[in-house]
Amino acid sequence: MNVLGIETSCDETGVAVYDTAGGLRAHALYSQVALHAEYGGVVPELASRDHVRKLLPLIRQTLADAGLSVDDLDGVAYTAGPGLVGALLVGAGVARALAWALEVPAIGVHHMEGHLLAPLLEDDPAGRPEPPFVALLVSGGHTQLVHVEAIGRYRLLGETLDDAAGEAFDKTAKMMGLPYPGGPQLAALAEQGRPGTYRFARPMTDRPGLDFSFSGLKTQVLLAWQQSDQSDATRADIARGFEDAVVDTLAIKCARALEATGCDTLVVAGGVGANKRLRAKLQAMAEARRGRVGFPRPAFCTDNGAMIAFAGALRLQAGQHDDASVRVTPRWDMAALAPVAGTAGPGA
Ligand code: KG4
Ligand code: ZN
Repeated sequence: MNVLGIETSCDETGVAVYDTAGGLRAHALYSQVALHAEYGGVVPELASRDHVRKLLPLIRQTLADAGLSVDDLDGVAYTAGPGLVGALLVGAGVARALAWALEVPAIGVHHMEGHLLAPLLEDDPAGRPEPPFVALLVSGGHTQLVHVEAIGRYRLLGETLDDAAGEAFDKTAKMMGLPYPGGPQLAALAEQGRPGTYRFARPMTDRPGLDFSFSGLKTQVLLAWQQSDQSDATRADIARGFEDAVVDTLAIKCARALEATGCDTLVVAGGVGANKRLRAKLQAMAEARRGRVGFPRPAFCTDNGAMIAFAGALRLQAGQHDDASVRVTPRWDMAALAPVAGTAGPGA
């Protein structure tokens, strides 16, 4: 079954084809980062318009890369939420129209389920994590720990009470004068910083529970920056102190979540999952517990069409699909999703 996946929830247009028998056939991504850079953040209306411009050419390119024509598609999956309503509607409208014209089923996918299942896209079956596991979802909009009891059965264990981890990276970077989008730039700068020169709090780790809070940490960093000499070396040292605080905090809560659920597998997804230090720290934590940790490849940590094609393929293969109306859900609780029976891994 060839499933076309379409991602347009924010500022990346992502398209992919996932074949339930042969795995990922092709994927393409267009990032709007340059478009939004001068505003210092995503401008929703500009995002929607750019998805309108880029989506059809990307679909054509992805099908050509896969060596397929539209008639070879057996289903269409699109991000139905959470996300920016106008941006979501572009993907949903194109997906539904295409499915209707081709007389194939279409399904709206939960963006965070896409992120959550991205580590299962690995080509090597031995490297693919199997539920039950704990998932750490760390993106620009979310920071959540989720108990994945089975595919489609998600229980929220904890989440951020204020800023998401990626948002904290972006805002901290902006405070220290780094250009948008700051998260990856702050991480790169931290590599040059000296560990321990600045030490910030590990928020909410001194009490039980699996929730997070990153806005106080951001304020601590702002004060340290304002009171410093603001040299390049200091900026790098503060970046390192901030990154270490976020990484330690996430690792402490992940260990607790594994303990609380009795799981030995951790899966990490979302843009901050591309962070090198976070990957190394969680790897070490998992090894110390004789467990394992699964990451998507860095390109599938951030928003992409492959994860939507894959999550949609699992559900379409299980016989699920939506009716023909174009509907999106900008706010959507993952616990409300239907369970999925069967798998759509390569060879299934
Ligand atoms: O999952 P994603 O692409 O989009 C959302 O759904 O939010 O995540 C983007 C977030 C941004 O906040 C970005 O700064 C952060 O992920 N990010 C990173 C790194 N790469 C991306 N944060 C820290 N270190 C990185 N290497
Ligand atoms: Zn995302």
